[in-house]
Amino acid sequence: MIVNNLIKATLIPGDGVGPEITEATLAALDALKAPFEWDRQVAGAAGVAACGEPLPKACLESIRGTRLALKGPLETPVGGGYRSINVQLREEFKLYANLRPGKTIVPGGRYDNIDLVLVRENNEGLYMGYEHFIPIDGDPHAVGMSTGVNTRQGCRRICRFAFDYAVKQGRKKVTAVHKANIMKALTGIFLETAREIYAAEYKDKFIFDEIIVDACAMKLVMNPWQFDMLVTTNLFGDILSDEIAGLVGGLGMAPGANIGEHAAIFEAVHGSAPDIAGKGIANPTALLLAAAMMLDHVGLTDKATRLRSDIDLVLNTDKVRTGDLGGTATTKEFTAALVKRLSAA
Ligand code: NAI
Repeated sequence: MIVNNLIKATLIPGDGVGPEITEATLAALDALKAPFEWDRQVAGAAGVAACGEPLPKACLESIRGTRLALKGPLETPVGGGYRSINVQLREEFKLYANLRPGKTIVPGGRYDNIDLVLVRENNEGLYMGYEHFIPIDGDPHAVGMSTGVNTRQGCRRICRFAFDYAVKQGRKKVTAVHKANIMKALTGIFLETAREIYAAEYKDKFIFDEIIVDACAMKLVMNPWQFDMLVTTNLFGDILSDEIAGLVGGLGMAPGANIGEHAAIFEAVHGSAPDIAGKGIANPTALLLAAAMMLDHVGLTDKATRLRSDIDLVLNTDKVRTGDLGGTATTKEFTAALVKRLSAA
């Protein structure tokens, strides 16, 4: 929503390192003169602390109004406790596509020249939370059950999203990742749909390929350059996108976008990093790159390109790097170096 030439957007700093990397990202966006008007909201553990609930109504209302959000990581209790707020937000706003590019910025790591894009289905599969325990002989958790659901409509939507992205970005190949040899219904429907949509609507626009998920995980480590774009179902996409983040220098470098018909939420792929929270050493690059994706999304591609290229200059020319990249810079030192670059004419 644009009001007075400002783009209204919701800002959720999040938990753990979230506020630190959010502050860094806002400083960079200010230096870029990005025309956002932020509506600050809380969720996750910060939501529980401030309002007694992990997904406060005010936060939902804000996103309903702005349809655009930049979000820091949100803590999810393991095992019991509340359901993942990230998953709830994806469901609430039907953010069916999760777009996760993995591109080498700092050369000289284990892998160089990586340029991969993973598109993950974000609303279906084994993430629907259709789970229960069956008690037997006094053991309340004797059996754990989970039901995954993939729909034809959902598979069509995610394949079209990935294929349209491939055409728009001039990608050469899209590989559908599945486990249709074992989960013949759950992921068979996805593979069948991907083949159909490609043959009917995208043939000759790029190469279409398919691979079983376990082989894909291995091949990504052996020779990641054989892939260009991957499209896959929810759980496989979650796992493979972290693997791809590992190929480009770790979670501190990986951005993600959750996109639906009515809203888009941009975030770092990593979590709240409780082990380093509050120490001032988190790498803000993932959230900065997510902000660049957000700038692209609203059509401010010049600013997105400038942000990406100045991040590159700070990391590679100025050699200002945080500890996860082998450097010694604090979050604030990295941010100051980036703001200096962005402020230069
Ligand atoms: P994590 O991603 O928070 O941390 C994994 C490792 O990567 C840690 O050693 C951490 O220090 C490091 N790391 C992460 N981000 C970094 C950064 N920006 N700079 C430097 N190092 C960084 O994963 P973990 O520990 O499994 O999850 C912690 C919490 O975050 C959990 O409650 C989890 O549910 C939540 N989470 C939230 C996500 C989201 O909001 N999108 C995504 C993933 C996890």
